[in-house]
Amino acid sequence: MYDLLIENIGQLLTMEGPNRPRKGREMGQITVKDNAALAVEQGKVAWIGSAEEAHSLKASRTMNAKSQLVTPGLVEPHTHLVFGGTRENEVALKQKGFSYLEILERGGGILSTVRATRAASLEELVKKANRSLDRFLSFGVTTLEAKSGYGLDKKTELKQLEAIKALNSHPIELVSTFLGAHAVPLEFKGNTKGFLKEMEDLLDEIKSQNLAEFVDIFCESGVFSVEESRAYLARAKEKGFGIKIHADELYPLGGTELAIDLEAVSADHLVAISEKGIQQLAESKTIATLLPGTTFYLGKDHYAPGRSIIDCGGAVTLSTDFNPGSSVTENLQLIMSLALLKMNLTPEEIWNAVTVNAAFAIGRGDVAGQLAVGRPADFVIWDAENYVYVPYHYGVSHTQFVFKNGNCVYERSSGYV
Ligand code: NIG
Ligand code: FE
Repeated sequence: MYDLLIENIGQLLTMEGPNRPRKGREMGQITVKDNAALAVEQGKVAWIGSAEEAHSLKASRTMNAKSQLVTPGLVEPHTHLVFGGTRENEVALKQKGFSYLEILERGGGILSTVRATRAASLEELVKKANRSLDRFLSFGVTTLEAKSGYGLDKKTELKQLEAIKALNSHPIELVSTFLGAHAVPLEFKGNTKGFLKEMEDLLDEIKSQNLAEFVDIFCESGVFSVEESRAYLARAKEKGFGIKIHADELYPLGGTELAIDLEAVSADHLVAISEKGIQQLAESKTIATLLPGTTFYLGKDHYAPGRSIIDCGGAVTLSTDFNPGSSVTENLQLIMSLALLKMNLTPEEIWNAVTVNAAFAIGRGDVAGQLAVGRPADFVIWDAENYVYVPYHYGVSHTQFVFKNGNCVYERSSGYV
């Protein structure tokens, strides 16, 4: 007797395969099971088979998927989830022609969110982030990475990481990253070294309190150089953290090559990645986390070369980069559409990117991104008949039901009152 049986699945994507990220051509392959069924026991997938075989199974609860698509819950590998305030005031500046880095140099941008985050209480931060998580869930996300990085002082960085910890009551499972090295705060202007030392001094405390698994840095012109990033991340690695880098977002500094050198789990952004970086990614363990929502939102035309990275043999994942400045959306389905339309990724590559590869990019490859017997029953029943339809019909949400550990945690309402 199973706890739950999902019957009459029109198309089931289990995303099953080897227990490692999908690279290059592998990203174009997925197994599609038509007319399938899936059973859950104690929060885990207990059985997967044909709709026909399911007739003889017994379950305490049965749900009819009405011939629709079922996939693993989406995995979101890069968000700046916790912050105070909003930045709609920057829209007019951007329209006047001020660039992202110019706004930051004038004490706006990230630094304006820093002021708001320092002023917010832990409870306020948790409440605000909780609302964003609800939105992520409504778009089908069941596991999500969340970064700090709007404190830029010891107290507030810890407050952000505490907020991420406190959010573990939300159905979405969180993976925490310390991004203290996100920008140089005004009080350290001209003293980048001193600031990085200050953040480095936090690493032991973060480790001992288990407040983050990964350490990230914004390696960018006018922010942190490749050499500063190398020294900082090497220290974090020595202390046992996994490594991530905001790399080659605006200028081709070589952050990708640095990520590969340090065996970072992911190199994120890569809009300005070099040819050499693309080649080296293919031979490396580092996953390219691409954030086309940022390119779109910053009003640029040149997207990260996801097509070349995959064609050369690399592993790609996709993310919203949700944050209050460069990508203000929790809609990972929109990002899937941008990958389809602006990066020329195929639907198969996109599904591998937002499930299996996203899970590996945040150290959850064993438990998230694939549906197989014994794995957590995190899945989405879509209001779509096939997997191509989801990125094709863009800008709206196609989720109908979202399950986490076998429990239905989101159901779309009809909207009518
Ligand atoms: O990933 N590039 C740096 N950090 C974020 C943006 C943060 C912000 O503007 O608040 C990003 O795009
Ligand atoms: Fe980011």
